[in-house]
Amino acid sequence: MSDIVAATPKALLAYCRPGFEPDCAEEIADHAMCDGEFERGDGWILFTPHEKNVSALNSLVNKQLIFPRQTLLVHDRLTLVGKDRLTPIVTSLKVINTAFSDVWLEYPDTNEGKSLSSFCRKFGDYVAKAAAENEWLQPQRVRNRLHLFFPQQNEVFIASRPARDTDWVNGIPRLRMPVDAPSRSTLKLLEAILVLVDKPESKLREGMSAVDLGAAPGGWTYQLVSRGLKVFAIDNGPMKGSMDGHHQVKHIRDDGFKFKPKNPVEWLVCDMVEQPIRVAELIAKWFSAGNARRSIFNLKLPMKKRYLEVNKCFALIEAKLEKAGIPCKITAKHLYHDREEITVYLTVAKD
Ligand SMILES: C[S@@+](CC[C@H](N)C(=O)[O-])C[C@H]1O[C@@H](n2cnc3c(N)ncnc32)[C@H](O)[C@@H]1O
Repeated sequence: MSDIVAATPKALLAYCRPGFEPDCAEEIADHAMCDGEFERGDGWILFTPHEKNVSALNSLVNKQLIFPRQTLLVHDRLTLVGKDRLTPIVTSLKVINTAFSDVWLEYPDTNEGKSLSSFCRKFGDYVAKAAAENEWLQPQRVRNRLHLFFPQQNEVFIASRPARDTDWVNGIPRLRMPVDAPSRSTLKLLEAILVLVDKPESKLREGMSAVDLGAAPGGWTYQLVSRGLKVFAIDNGPMKGSMDGHHQVKHIRDDGFKFKPKNPVEWLVCDMVEQPIRVAELIAKWFSAGNARRSIFNLKLPMKKRYLEVNKCFALIEAKLEKAGIPCKITAKHLYHDREEITVYLTVAKD
């Protein structure tokens, strides 16, 4: 058995929030370096290059894309007829003839998909047994994870990807709602910190200060405060619960588009419901003036051409910061806790 992936990937599978498949496809096409066909499921997209192109697929799977929750290299696709679903999978894996670090059984983020959760749990035990018998799982030697994705009970994609710490089963993070946080939006910033910020404990710590634009009732402020930061919470609305009158929080009733800090801050976060281009302009203004070094902000995307709008916003930020002589780095993700919006992480590039 080979150490690394011997099987040639044939396609790229991407999971996404149902309804965002066209955005996912547009982004993949933009990065693919080759032409191909798209097949759309509910909550997933399959991209198959017209001609065999392993390097294009490998490059795609390693890219940090915005709309896919998870990307996988597809080695095989099986229709499972009859009661014995295991044998065809085992036969296919014998042909693939590769060791993996782990195996995950997954399904789409739809009602139909969720109805497969108990099947996947039970069937996973049989798969694990077969994997042990064939020595397919070698976590000490290999970092490539096997994914069996069931778009429905009688169909499976046999896929894999290089495992990352930020991967979750089905691409969905299971985050616990802190009991004393004033709003569920707190999970959005928590997910953004876990997914987008490298070594967050060094980048969000005591002694730093932050501005939170559109802070009320305080879910995002809560995440910053719990990491020891002092927060200027800008909102005309009231801060609530544990964030109302907290000693690390200075609540300023002001317009987030007009507020100017007395001193620069390390972090600027922004969750105001506004046109994305206005938010992009605002964030670029703060960075150009040297008033913040890192930012997490939302771009609300109620429009049809979301990917186009995102690119316009990024182009604006990059152009303004280039003009100001500030090299920057932008990463972004359509988080599980995001609905019609994406979350962006901007840093000055030398970080
Ligand atoms: C989605 S909520 C923010 C939720 C917050 N991040 C949390 O975790 O609790 C949006 C907030 O932005 C505020 N907002 C909208 N436009 C604003 C503006 N121009 N200036 C200040 N706050 C604004 C609203 O008052 C509202 O409280």
